[in-house]
Amino acid sequence: METIRIEDAGRHVGATVAVQGWLTHRRSSGKLLFLVVRDGSGSIQCVGSLADLGEESFKRLDALPQESALVVHGVVREDKRAPGGFELTLQGADIRHEAEPYPISPKEHGVEFLMDHRHLWLRSSRQHAILRVRATLVRALREFFDSNGFTLVDAPIFTPSACEGTTTLFETDYFGEKAYLTQSGQLYMEAAAAALGRVYCFGPTFRAEKSKTRRHLIEFWMLEPEMAYATLDDVMALEERLLESVVGRVLSERAEELKRLERDTTKLAQVKAPFVRLHYDDAVKLLHDKGLAFEWGGDFGSPDETAIAESFDRPVFVHHFPTAIKAFYMEPDAARPETCLSVDCLAPEGYGEITGGGQRTASLALLEQRLQEHGLPRAAFEWYLDLRKYGSVPHAGFGIGVERTLAWICGLEHVRETIPFPRMLHRLTP
Ligand code: 4AD
Ligand code: MG
Repeated sequence: METIRIEDAGRHVGATVAVQGWLTHRRSSGKLLFLVVRDGSGSIQCVGSLADLGEESFKRLDALPQESALVVHGVVREDKRAPGGFELTLQGADIRHEAEPYPISPKEHGVEFLMDHRHLWLRSSRQHAILRVRATLVRALREFFDSNGFTLVDAPIFTPSACEGTTTLFETDYFGEKAYLTQSGQLYMEAAAAALGRVYCFGPTFRAEKSKTRRHLIEFWMLEPEMAYATLDDVMALEERLLESVVGRVLSERAEELKRLERDTTKLAQVKAPFVRLHYDDAVKLLHDKGLAFEWGGDFGSPDETAIAESFDRPVFVHHFPTAIKAFYMEPDAARPETCLSVDCLAPEGYGEITGGGQRTASLALLEQRLQEHGLPRAAFEWYLDLRKYGSVPHAGFGIGVERTLAWICGLEHVRETIPFPRMLHRLTP
């Protein structure tokens, strides 16, 4: 007898097979027993009769607690009414582990309770769907770069310096020296771009952000491409192609999961280049036209981002932010140095900023000045300044946050569900 994965059931219609899984649900009429078994690839309803199973086995299965581990065997049948399109006519089941009473029941649980039981909550159909979309999103992101001339270059996790400002650094002791967990691999990608032309890194990044919002995680995953001989416009053109490509792939490869998440996919189908390009000045005007009190020079809060995004049916680029609110490495606009060659991409439907990037300062003198203005220690950036001494060219890139992008694609209220084990303010367990 062949052991199959539930998602492959369609290739085994009529055959007697085994499925190794866990019990998610059961009911019985006294003569017929219905077990829903999941194996990680999907769920299947198994129907067993008292006659086929025998009284002893029937009784044991009829009392089996949820999440017990069992190997079921039976014949695969096509059934249009069944959730996956197939059913198993049960011939027997081998109970491998009888579970204790399961703490997560179908009734509503509070978020804190579910977060405390995240290690078990992952088994739910909704979390299963999210994790599968996440895996596909990551693969689509990476394959886009792999097939467009970018080389993967891994950035370090321990760093001697800040990339995105000193207020959100996690400090650790590095054999008596101060080290920080990386906030972004960008500076290393700038070095790598001068070696390989087009590069990207993908990994976890850390921000000690004291903000408790539905968009902030302490540990999140970011993919960061960097291109030599490139400008702000090249960044927007690349982001547009990237988002169109990855959303398209998730739509075609994870349709079933998006349906399970009750995602309105018509909105995602509209994610086609070209996206809207909005100068920061015009974004401010738009906010004023909508009656929001926003002052030129500030950073957008979540209501501002939502108001801007809701004015359009596809992602929006806001570019040329005020230099004062952006990181030290941003290239100032030559004609208006109070603004810089930066760009954020705002997702539709109020999901906020999903990418941040722009063109980097190419001049050594200006970079030295900017480090000073930002109060950053020159010694830690000596290597980075070298990049402006040996073949400095305009170069640009961006970072895309996996969790925010996934929250948007899946239509999730909060980023806590987008990562298997979220690290948030006041949440380090499980
Ligand atoms: O805008 P950010 O801070 O940009 C950078 O780190 C640049 N150095 C990237 C680059 O140019 N190579 O972060 C980029 C993206 C954001 O748009 C957002 O999607 C995500 O990273 N992000 C977060 N996601 C979850 N929780 C947080 N606390 C996040 N902070 C940033
Ligand atoms: Mg940003």
